Amino acid sequence: VRTLSAIGIGAGDPEQLTLQAVRALNAVEVFFVPDKGEQAPDLARMRHEICERHIERPGYRIVEIPDPPRDRGAAGYREAVHDWRRRRGERWEQAITSHLGEDGHGGFLVWGDPSLYDSTLAILEQLQIPFALEVIPGISSVQALTARHRIALNRVGGAVQITTGRRLAAHGLPAGAGDVVVMLDADCAFRALVDRDIDIYWGAYLGTPHELLIAGPLREVASEIVERRAQARAARGWIMDTYLLRLYGDGLEPRPRPSGGGGSARSRVLGP
Ligand SMILES: C[S@@+](CC[C@H](N)C(=O)[O-])C[C@H]1O[C@@H](n2cnc3c(N)ncnc32)[C@H](O)[C@@H]1O
Repeated sequence: VRTLSAIGIGAGDPEQLTLQAVRALNAVEVFFVPDKGEQAPDLARMRHEICERHIERPGYRIVEIPDPPRDRGAAGYREAVHDWRRRRGERWEQAITSHLGEDGHGGFLVWGDPSLYDSTLAILEQLQIPFALEVIPGISSVQALTARHRIALNRVGGAVQITTGRRLAAHGLPAGAGDVVVMLDADCAFRALVDRDIDIYWGAYLGTPHELLIAGPLREVASEIVERRAQARAARGWIMDTYLLRLYGDGLEPRPRPSGGGGSARSRVLGP
């Protein structure tokens, strides 16, 4: 039976691969690369660099799987995603049966960690062919963000919620969470929250040479983030950014006093 590995490769820094990921990369005979066609040159190059740097075993192959077009005008977002996943699954299945022997080992390089806002596992689950699945965790952009800002993700005994820009824009802050991580936000949804007492820790292109970091009270830094983001996006043609919103008040842990060690939103760090 075939083995398929979904390998978390970190969110941009080729040094953030785990030893387990490197072992898996070296066991894979055929890498399947779904091609989304967008953001392509930079992300494809980074994936390529990871393979070059970590795979010592010669003779591996790379098979690209062009993605079917996505119907962005479809009525329901969820239905559209499910339909797109089904159509992608059909193509993946075809590529796997044509390019990987019955006992072969195939791999999918998954940006960040496979468990977080990524469809690889959901698509693999739908395949009709038998295979053994291996999942290798990766450093997610959330971990890269908190490490670069030198902060913990949660406060003492506190809850953290991870959500999307789309949900934040539609429903506002989730109830009950004092710390909210926002991903997939193309529209700076944090702008609607500048009247609240919130610190933001924002990071773009984390782990790459183009990394940008801004932290501070939301009302003070929101417009700077919007501006920097727009400039960077225009310059590179794409952007990936993630941020943590740390709320204050309502029985939440208060701001720490500024210290010399960094980590507080008062110490702002800026990229190049
Ligand atoms: C489709 S999700 C994939 C998340 C990925 N599985 C992870 O573990 O980080 C893409 C979103 O992840 C975030 N992201 C991924 N890589 C990033 C990076 N290098 N810097 C900042 N945000 C990143 C952005 O919010 C982006 O919109």
